[in-house]
Amino acid sequence: MWGCGALLGARAGSRLRCELFLAWDRGWSAAAPYSASAEPSRVRALVYGHHGDPAKVVELKNLELAAVGRSDVHVKMLAAPINPSDINMIQGNYGLLPKLPAVGGNEGVGQVVAVGGSVTGVKPGDWVIPASAGLGTWQTEAVFSEEALISIPSDLPLQSAATLSVNPCTAYRMLMDFEQLQPGDCVIQNASNSGVGQAVIQIAAALGLRTVNVVRDRPDLQKLTDRLKSLGAEHVLTEEELRKHEMKNFFKVRKRRLKTDQGFHQGQTVTNGGVRAL
Ligand SMILES: NC(=O)c1ccc[n+]([C@@H]2O[C@H](COP(=O)([O-])OP(=O)(O)OC[C@H]3O[C@@H](n4cnc5c(N)ncnc54)[C@H](OP(=O)(O)O)[C@@H]3O)[C@@H](O)[C@H]2O)c1
Repeated sequence: MWGCGALLGARAGSRLRCELFLAWDRGWSAAAPYSASAEPSRVRALVYGHHGDPAKVVELKNLELAAVGRSDVHVKMLAAPINPSDINMIQGNYGLLPKLPAVGGNEGVGQVVAVGGSVTGVKPGDWVIPASAGLGTWQTEAVFSEEALISIPSDLPLQSAATLSVNPCTAYRMLMDFEQLQPGDCVIQNASNSGVGQAVIQIAAALGLRTVNVVRDRPDLQKLTDRLKSLGAEHVLTEEELRKHEMKNFFKVRKRRLKTDQGFHQGQTVTNGGVRAL
């Protein structure tokens, strides 16, 4: 799928969801063995040279693929999401900022094409994800150092593999790091339809935790409610419903009232985000 410049522009100025992907389909075939004499490939990348509005500063460029060094891995990117932190990084208001010019994208999944002579952890055909933020996943292929990558099973659904490292891990840490939640405990969160929120619902359900999920009202609220319930949500409420006096009774039955911190960074989309255990 191409047209990702427009996709990024549309998302940058509006409500963000993590369901959109940059997915590259270049008709790539079997993984090639490492060869020092391989012809340099043409790489397409979404690059920004200075910080600002992503719709204005991100450009689609052709780059030359770097040579594969002994401890390097040549990766063809398969899919990469657009997360709020990607937007914040381009805007320049994220805690971690790469050297400019930079290729956008912190998350994604790629397939190993070739490896350098001293690489032992991955082999051609393996699927890999970034080991940390700032790798620059919005490009068709790239050469990364082996230590910048983590090998993952290649039988995962592509979209799950491409979004494995940011939102599910954040949701898991939120549920695990702040309170000792027990099966039957109840957590409440806002922005419940976000990528993080959906991961909270699913992980909580798998842990036997109950969830109260607050969302913003919308014309197709029932459809969203049904979807979140199909993921394991126990209750789905709008912000307006949450403010109603009747909700007092709803919460009265929950005995413990504990608070956790969602760990949102300053300047990100959800300013009132949070998860609380009740
Ligand atoms: N480690 C970390 O600190 C970490 C990691 C991952 C994510 N995050 C943060 O977690 C948040 C969610 O990320 P995500 O990728 O899951 O987001 P996402 O999928 O893009 O979803 C954004 C969510 O924010 C809601 N929202 C936007 N503006 C809002 C407002 N003014 N009031 C209430 N809700 C609002 C949206 O609701 P509608 O559908 O109603 O628009 C949607 O539920 C972001 O702030 C992100 O930066 C932090």
